[in-house]
Amino acid sequence: TAYETILVETRGKVGLITLNRPQALNALNSQLVGEVNRALDGFEADPGIGCVVITGSEKAFAAGADIKEMQAKTFPQSYLEDFITSWDRVANRRKPIIAAVAGFALGGGCELAMMCDIILAADTAKFGQPEIKLGVMPGAGGTQRLTRIVGKAKAMELCLTGRMMGAEEAERAGLVARVVPADKLLEDALKTAETIASMSLPIAMMTKESVNRAYETTLAEGIRFERRVFHAMFATADQKEGMAAFVEKRAPAFKNA
Ligand code: HXC
Repeated sequence: TAYETILVETRGKVGLITLNRPQALNALNSQLVGEVNRALDGFEADPGIGCVVITGSEKAFAAGADIKEMQAKTFPQSYLEDFITSWDRVANRRKPIIAAVAGFALGGGCELAMMCDIILAADTAKFGQPEIKLGVMPGAGGTQRLTRIVGKAKAMELCLTGRMMGAEEAERAGLVARVVPADKLLEDALKTAETIASMSLPIAMMTKESVNRAYETTLAEGIRFERRVFHAMFATADQKEGMAAFVEKRAPAFKNA
């Protein structure tokens, strides 16, 4: 089961996926999306993995869906194959995923980053939804996730003009958790992922699930959901361990239990 469009490694408890179609600025063709999903399936099933990092190259995280692959598509074809829906599997993962973005994150590339839980950006990162310039619009969450994240004003402007936004603007707009120097991006992303992977895995997963609820429901329902999950955490050994470790002034040894 070799991968042709991505590189897949593990670094301790962190799974690392590097998008690797340099000749096409990591344009996301169906093979690449399939391989990302296969790699994520493996990391989700591996109890030793606590967090995943998805990154690209210095020049491009991903310059969008593969335009050459989409060019000749017809409506019935795209409908019958349910074009794009398989991408949702990235957004519906249960373990935390960090997107480490340098260079272009355009169209489907920006949408892929937004499917991840945290976006860390190199100072070289450029985000945008340029689909309108191709006679289409975002089709993998760009009109929806971007709007929820940065608000209507900026989302409308980005989607309607197709202009790119730099890392600083993306951070100010709330799209990006942090901007780091380009040569420190991967190191920082792996360190952040390692920190997350050092926590109790079920607790980290429940935390991700709860934060995501904020985008799916009303505040009252979200608060109720949070409280139920919070109460349930007192049934875990890791809560007992985490609090005992604090009181005993030592590092916790979580058992994912
Ligand atoms: C296919 C792509 C591509 C893409 C770049 N390439 N982006 N191929 N699909 N999205 C290819 C180019 O054709 C070229 O191949 C090679 O990568 C290098 O690209 P250049 O354009 O020569 O590089 P540069 O001049 O540095 O310009 C970089 C760029 C530009 C500004 C990012 O490549 C660009 O505008 N790309 C398209 C961005 C875009 O429109 N993305 C949205 C796609 S639609 P050759 O063989 O010619 O050397 C989309 C829809 C999402 O994402 C909907 C749901 C998925």
